[in-house]
Amino acid sequence: MKERIVSGMRPTGKLHLGHYLGVIQNWAELQHKYESFFFVADWHALTTKYDKTETLKQDTIDVVIDWLASGIDPNIATIYVQSLIPEIAELNIYLSMVTPQNWVERDPCLKDMVKIIHTKEGTNSQVSYGLLGYPVLMSTDIMMFNATGVPVGIDQVAHIEITRDITRRFNNIYKTDFFNEAKPILNHCSLICGLDGNKMGKSFQNDIKISDTEEVTAKRIMSAITDRSRMRKDDPGHPDECQVAFKYWEIFGDKSQVDTVRCECEKGLRGCADCKRQLGALINEKFAPIREKRRYYEAHPQEVEEIIREGSKKARTEAQKVLSQVREIIGMY
Ligand code: TRP
Repeated sequence: MKERIVSGMRPTGKLHLGHYLGVIQNWAELQHKYESFFFVADWHALTTKYDKTETLKQDTIDVVIDWLASGIDPNIATIYVQSLIPEIAELNIYLSMVTPQNWVERDPCLKDMVKIIHTKEGTNSQVSYGLLGYPVLMSTDIMMFNATGVPVGIDQVAHIEITRDITRRFNNIYKTDFFNEAKPILNHCSLICGLDGNKMGKSFQNDIKISDTEEVTAKRIMSAITDRSRMRKDDPGHPDECQVAFKYWEIFGDKSQVDTVRCECEKGLRGCADCKRQLGALINEKFAPIREKRRYYEAHPQEVEEIIREGSKKARTEAQKVLSQVREIIGMY
């Protein structure tokens, strides 16, 4: 029997190349090796955006469309929406009872989120009870399916530690070995920076979306920063100091392409504008099949809806099995 993994993403809307290279590509590989549950964490979105729900539904759909376009196969992996599994809310209650208050308060990921909220909205902005429960809810997501692995980025590892702590504590208190201690499966990926050299992010407006058109992509790539010391196009360039454009070549190009770019740049045979025009074309070529698939799903919303409903139904059946055992273990009526 295959081991089981669970992972989720908050519904941030259309995903960018950072999500693709850092997360989705991994999931698409892992789905063949593990029994996989991938979900949109819409309750987690509410922990900070409870008052900005106008786009929540569409954002959820957009995330799923990007997954499907990128090769997450609903016939292999189970794709679902967190809030369609009410069992998660019930398990969350049980787990919140056994989680000491100071465990959530010392969660470093949560501390970072609070810091961000305070810088964005002022130091007297409220941290809700729900946000404080973020790590417990995340533990619930994982334990709901009794997963043994959780594919995540390094930034989420502290959360998985708390999940392991809660698992041990539950097993201890109720004298059981029912829950597995889930391990993080670290994403092996190429970290892609944004067009300005900072972390790629929607809110920094330095991203390229999976869903962007070829024209938009080509135009956005032209704004990527290059070797700043280079004034004229026949000046010898320094690929290793070309913080964005050359890095992208290394991610998307094959070895001979990268070698050619390096060599021509260093000899002053390749201007930055031409170089980025070629780069844009290369990225467009790579994403053409994904974008085509994306357009298909966009044009068939019924099919996407069906996939979400079916996946959530399947996930719910599994969640119900776990929950009935948990109720029994605790001794509920
Ligand atoms: N916290 C994760 C993030 O921000 C999203 C998430 C919620 C998650 N629940 C999860 C990831 C369970 C893995 C497993 O990216």
